[in-house]
Amino acid sequence: MKLKLRLATCGLFAVSLLLTAVPAMAGDADPLAATGRWSVYTAGRAATPPMGWSSWNAFGTDVTEARVLDSANTIVASGLAAKGYLYINIDDGWWLKRRQSDGRMQVRTVIFPSAAVGGKDESSFRPFTDKIHSMGLKAGIYSDLGRNSCSQAYGGPSTPNLPEGTVAEREVGLYGHAEKDIKLYFQDWGFDFIKVDGCGVRAFGPDSGKVTSGQYRVLGPMIDFQSVNRTDVAEIKKLYGEVADHLKRYNPDGDFVFSICAWGSADVRSWSRTVGNLSRTSDDITPSWGRMLTNLDSAATRALYAHPGSWNDPDMLFVGHGDFDEHHLTEARSHFALWAMLSAPLIIGYDLRKAPPELMEIFGNSELIAINQDPAGNQAVLAYETDDVQIFVKSRGDDPAHKAVAIFNRGTAAQEVTLSADHLKYAAGADVQLTDLWTKAALPAFKGEVKLRVEPRQTLVFDARGMRALDGGVYLSEMPGRVNPAVDGVVTPQADPFIHRGVSPWAGTRGRGDLPMYAGWGGAQADVTPYGRSLQIAGKPFASGIGILANSRLEVRLSGERRFTASVGVDDSTLDTSTPVTFQVYGDGKLLGQSSALRFGSAPEELTVEVAGYKILELVARSTVSGNAERTVVTWGNAALLK
Ligand code: GLA
Repeated sequence: MKLKLRLATCGLFAVSLLLTAVPAMAGDADPLAATGRWSVYTAGRAATPPMGWSSWNAFGTDVTEARVLDSANTIVASGLAAKGYLYINIDDGWWLKRRQSDGRMQVRTVIFPSAAVGGKDESSFRPFTDKIHSMGLKAGIYSDLGRNSCSQAYGGPSTPNLPEGTVAEREVGLYGHAEKDIKLYFQDWGFDFIKVDGCGVRAFGPDSGKVTSGQYRVLGPMIDFQSVNRTDVAEIKKLYGEVADHLKRYNPDGDFVFSICAWGSADVRSWSRTVGNLSRTSDDITPSWGRMLTNLDSAATRALYAHPGSWNDPDMLFVGHGDFDEHHLTEARSHFALWAMLSAPLIIGYDLRKAPPELMEIFGNSELIAINQDPAGNQAVLAYETDDVQIFVKSRGDDPAHKAVAIFNRGTAAQEVTLSADHLKYAAGADVQLTDLWTKAALPAFKGEVKLRVEPRQTLVFDARGMRALDGGVYLSEMPGRVNPAVDGVVTPQADPFIHRGVSPWAGTRGRGDLPMYAGWGGAQADVTPYGRSLQIAGKPFASGIGILANSRLEVRLSGERRFTASVGVDDSTLDTSTPVTFQVYGDGKLLGQSSALRFGSAPEELTVEVAGYKILELVARSTVSGNAERTVVTWGNAALLK
């Protein structure tokens, strides 16, 4: 394998730099050591984002078998199942109690009559899942990582279907029962999907009224929403990891989906994509515009954290309710289109028995579904962002010239938006062809830029084809589904201050308002720095690239490309202007090339590395200072793979 390393500006130092030892951190303990592996979770069945229906946004805990089956029937009869909506998920409310003789969970058969089989104090969901499977669908169930559920934590006297019996009987969550419960739900009852919530490890601390009143036993709390430092991140990761192990064990055919619901807390950014298929990025969505923005924002800058097998989950769809009902079709379409672009799970949360045709059309928009289900699994990247307008671009399939673009007007005044070929990384001199995915109309081809009127709260979505600006290759930031920040350099998890702060689903406007808890501030980003600034090294801007902190390791899945190129350096936006950083490129664990030690102000250094024949590329940015408290911002400018 031929290694070529060129130094754009300081050729004189080239030889000595190649010989300069990189700070010694070798050995097992070195988190930046190349592994030659793609570490994203690929167990289960989530090569594309799961689609389906859930009882929660439609019915809360007032769920019944009839309601679930009616929606399942509608999904089949309406053709939505054929379009990919396969999972029929029962959320909170299904349980009656945990049998004390052997710890077996009991279904509330009054609301799920088909589960009343096997005699007194017996129940089984098998007839229900058989029915769902006979319809060509898949069945999902719900549990909690702790001893108790969210409805037990936050429900009141009027909440229907709370578990019954003694304190021990009402301990329906997985804590202490994980293996037995997962075996029951998957091997015996035949479910295909589980959402595991986290209220049981968050809301039953010693000071909780539900505990002091004697209603529930104390546990933790292991999650503190207000403070990631007071959250036992390692324990939460371990408990979810144990569930993942049981899922693998009791699903030898691999036919399961594991949905982690820790709402972005517990620093899930750093680990959930190696543990489960879905990971919630925020607290619950509500049918209000502001709350939808909160949930959107919690995932919108996280494209590099979503991949085939493991996706960002900004929560289930609320299309059909409140600000997204049939009287607010602009808002409903925006919500749906944005979730499609984000490669979010498309889980309908609506009572489909009463769905008017306009809403069914939104759910059934085949073009948007195809964007969401695109096998390349690239979550859309923000190409333009203000509080008023956002432009999201999603690369589609294997053809890097094929994209989808969504132009979202977040505000209440119409906007004239200029969409440029640059936003799409297309050549300015060549025709760009847009097809409107709502109207199916092809727009006249344009060169350079086009002006588009976007109504308040509207999202225009287009299929796009053009000539790529980068000939013969693809920027890494165009293929986030193949780039994983396995170590992103964040050592002090912090909430992202740019997330829209919607009214809390639980507290309303009591208190001071909720801050986002997704500790994603400083995580790697496509085309901007970890803190959202334009990429720039020593005065040279880069419209494309990966922005990340030093002491990081990116994994990149190769697909027959010949060469990797990038202009690397410490980003001009860094607050730390002294620490030197060395950039290294590995192929299947072998060092292929590295830069000199670069500081703030050093001109970008050009790395060109031959990568033919390798499967996994790793891009390591290693600072001379361990611990990373300086949060040195680095840029892999124009990082690209060439055919
Ligand atoms: C939590 C979850 C919701 C839902 C409820 C059920 O709030 O985030 O999605 O499952 O619990 O009680």
